[in-house]
Parts: sequence; C-alpha cells; structure tokens
Amino acid sequence: MYVTQSVCYNLAKIRTFDWMPFVRTRLVVKNHRERMNRLKIAVYPGSFDPITNGHIDILERSSLLFDKIIVAVVHNPTKNALFSPEERAQFITESTRHIKNIEVDCFDGLLAQYMKQKGSDIIIRGLRSITDFEYESHMSMMNRHLLPHVDTIFIMSDIRYIYISSSSVKEVAMLGGDVTCMVPALVKEALRQKYRLKKQNG
Ligand code: PNS
Repeated sequence: MYVTQSVCYNLAKIRTFDWMPFVRTRLVVKNHRERMNRLKIAVYPGSFDPITNGHIDILERSSLLFDKIIVAVVHNPTKNALFSPEERAQFITESTRHIKNIEVDCFDGLLAQYMKQKGSDIIIRGLRSITDFEYESHMSMMNRHLLPHVDTIFIMSDIRYIYISSSSVKEVAMLGGDVTCMVPALVKEALRQKYRLKKQNG
C-alpha cells in the first residue's frame, strides 16, 4: 500500500512535458521498426533512352541490396527521346531477365508523387564520376524537399562503364560506330534499325 502510494506520488510530480521525450523516442523506435519490417522497395528512375550495360550493372548491384527494384522509365514530353517509353521499358525487361526482383514501369510527372504512389522511400541513382554527383546531389535535395523521408542511394558504376551514357551510345551508333560492349544485343539492333529508318526517311 505504502509502495503504491509512493509510486503514485512520484509519478504525479513528473510534469507532462517531462514525459514527452520518452513518448517521442518510443514513437521513433516504433516507426523505425515498422519501416524495417516492410519490404525494402527501391525505385530506379531514369530516361533509359536506351538502357546501357552501365544501367544493368547498377541494377545487378542494387538487386542484392533491396527486396524489390522498380525501374521507372520517365516519360518527359519536353525531351526528344529516340525510343518511346514502351520501347525503352521493353528493352529493360528483356535485358534484365536474369535479375529476379525487378519490375519495370513507366511514369510521367513528379518522381516524388510516383514514390508516394509506390510506397517506396528509396531512390537509386548510379554515379560514374564526381561530375555526375553535382547534378545528382541537387536532384536528391529537391526530392528530399518534396518528400522529407525519401533518401537517394548512390551506387558507383563498375569502372568498365564509367564512360558510357545513353547519349554517347546514341551518337556513336548514329555515326556508324560499334556499340557492342556498351549495350545489350537487342538494343544494339534496335539502334541500328532506328538510325537506318531515320536515314531512309531523310
Ligand atoms: O536518366 P536521367 O535522364 O538522368 O533521369 C533523370 C530523371 C528522369 C530521374 C529526373 O529528371 C526526374 O526525376 N524526372 C521526373 C520529374 C521530377 O520529379 N523532377 C524533379 C526532380 S529534380
């Protein structure tokens, strides 16, 4: 009896705001546990016009780190893409069949909105050099401003791919250069056909 009275007396002495940090810590731990228990779904957004061996390398690496990767092909109507979003998505699907935890999707609009829709809070971006980092860090900050709980994870490309980009591949292919070691075989063939058609149509 005396013990109970004493505990009640001591608890009553603690003011509400003395409890707040404790309650807040419990909430943070609870949210953290909930996040840890969820499947780790990461989104790998990009133009992928077209997918290169560098992109595939990033996907192979990130597929080991996350439960599921959604490769999100961005349809930006203001950019003059060589391939349609559907063609780009098909090239990705075909050339990543060996990676089991991948889903390919297309979207337009804000990446932050897409992340919300997919219930993911991890963005994956590949880095080839410090020059990439400049642009990527601004994009990451903008996305964090729009969605504070979203983090961008940067994955370094393998050294074999650091000079490869979709734009340089297109330029080389257009001018008749060999892109065999830069893109999957089906993309090489699609590039050949696209530029042959463009030539024919003037
Ligand atoms: O492969 P890319 O072209 O470097 O990818 C850039 C991409 C598509 C990821 C980026 O432009 C993007 O997220 N576009 C969607 C529109 C958006 O959310 N813009 C605000 C972020 S800066």
